[in-house]
Amino acid sequence: MAIEAWYMDESDEDPRLPHHRHPKEFVSSDHLAGLGVLYWHLNPKDYENDEELQKIRQARGYNYMDLLDLCPEKVQNYEEKLKNFYTEHIHADEEIRYCLEGSGYFDVRDKDDDWIRIWVKAGDLIILPAGIYHRFTLDTNNYTKLMRLFVGEPVWTAYNRPQEDHPARKDYTKSLTEKVGVALEAH
Ligand code: LAC
Ligand code: NI
Repeated sequence: MAIEAWYMDESDEDPRLPHHRHPKEFVSSDHLAGLGVLYWHLNPKDYENDEELQKIRQARGYNYMDLLDLCPEKVQNYEEKLKNFYTEHIHADEEIRYCLEGSGYFDVRDKDDDWIRIWVKAGDLIILPAGIYHRFTLDTNNYTKLMRLFVGEPVWTAYNRPQEDHPARKDYTKSLTEKVGVALEAH
C-alpha cells in the first residue's frame, strides 16, 4: 500500500483539514525518497512480535522505543505539545514515527520550500531525515497512537525555523544538492 501525500494549499483554515490543492496534487513515495523521507507499511496489530519491524529496527539501530498516545487524558500539557508539534522545526536526528492507531499529518518542506502533507495512518512507519523542516498535526479524527523510535538515548529537542546555521540543517541541505547532482549525472 502506498503512502498518501500531497501538496498543500495556502489557506489558513483549520490545520486538521486535508488542505488539498485544487486540482489535487499527489506526491509519490519516490518524490518523498528524494527528500530523504522513507516509508514502510507494516501490520500494526501485533507490533510487539512483528519481525518486519524488528528487521528495520536492527538494520537502522533503533534500540529505543516508546509510545505516544495523543489524547488529552494521557498527555501532559496536551494543547501546548500539539502547538509545538505544529510549529515548523528541525531536529538534530531522524524523526521516526510508527502509527499504531488513528491518523495524523506530517508536513515536510520540499526543495522549493512548499509544504507536502503526508497522511500517516495505522500501519504507516515514516522516517524524516535530520535537518528537514517539518511539523505535525492531528487530522479531524483527532486521535493517534504513535511509536517513537530512536538510536540510543532519545533527544526530542525541536529547533524552530530559521535554523540555516544548524549543522543538521547544513548537512541536510548538502545531501539534497548531492542527490540532484547524482540525478543530473545519470542523464
Ligand atoms: C512529533 C510527534 C508527532 O514529534 O511525535 O512531532
Ligand atoms: Ni519534529
